[in-house]
Amino acid sequence: MTRRFWGIFRERQHSPGRESDDAEILRLTAKHLEAAGYQVSLKTPDELGEADEPSPSLVFLMCERVAALGFLEPLAARGIPHVNPPSAVLNTYRDRMIPLLDASGVPFPESCIVSSEAFDPGHPCPVWVKRADVHNTQSGDVVFARSPAELQEAVAALHRRGIPRIVLQRHVPGDLIKFYGVGRPGGEHPQDLWFRWFYHREQELAGYPFAEEALWTVAQRAARAIGLEVYGGDAIVTPVGEVVLIDINAWPSFALYREEASEQIARWLFRRLAQGAVP
Ligand SMILES: Nc1ncnc2c1ncn2[C@@H]1O[C@H](COP(=O)(O)OP(=O)(O)OP(=O)(O)O)[C@@H](O)[C@H]1O
Ligand SMILES: [Mg+2]
Repeated sequence: MTRRFWGIFRERQHSPGRESDDAEILRLTAKHLEAAGYQVSLKTPDELGEADEPSPSLVFLMCERVAALGFLEPLAARGIPHVNPPSAVLNTYRDRMIPLLDASGVPFPESCIVSSEAFDPGHPCPVWVKRADVHNTQSGDVVFARSPAELQEAVAALHRRGIPRIVLQRHVPGDLIKFYGVGRPGGEHPQDLWFRWFYHREQELAGYPFAEEALWTVAQRAARAIGLEVYGGDAIVTPVGEVVLIDINAWPSFALYREEASEQIARWLFRRLAQGAVP
């Protein structure tokens, strides 16, 4: 029987400034699958459900909107493996992610989710203001407010755009790290886990010492809490060497490690195909 994979691109609105990087990692992953003899259909979220075609053996996806995830959810419920599971992608929406991370015990800055209409203008500054649903889609979605006036303006701008809920999050000073991971932390195959990190380029790096092991632990615990198998995120190393998670995202562009990551992802997809649905 021919094994058929579907690969779903990210919605363009969810790839601000990295449309081609996001598409590239999906295409490269597909190439590895095809080289191993599998048939792959790459689709945009809009193309889902267009053609009356046989069900895939596995779906790998970068889409993030409720519409596409809602289409895939019944396939996942039928036992077709999805990487990442649609429920895990939904869990990256900030209003779900924050309580999940809080419950997981991962070091994460105090965050409150409030209405963009009725928030406390006296909230201490500086503070990060983020829309409470999806990640960054355009300027204004994630804003650093240094003063009450900037806070007021950032929230008002989100409210004007019809975004009802926002996150106010404590600022964590320190060195900004980006990380990437593949595999299911805490699963049966620790040898499959792949992890890379690097310092974000655009910063004045202080070089605070920290334990790489601690970073890996934080990233893995966060991925596990959210249910992600292909993930990326941001963490800050504080002046005292603590690693604080700032954000975790489903299937990033892996831009600096595209070749290596695509091989690792393909390997993980074969593993998932063999394993079947997530229990
Ligand atoms: N609480 C915080 N403390 C310090 N820096 C922060 C904080 N929150 C956000 N930042 C900075 O803003 C950046 C973007 O924030 P975040 O990752 O939460 O948003 P995002 O929507 O995922 O955006 P991006 O796609 O750019 O990562 C982080 O990489 C970090 O540099
Ligand atoms: Mg981020």
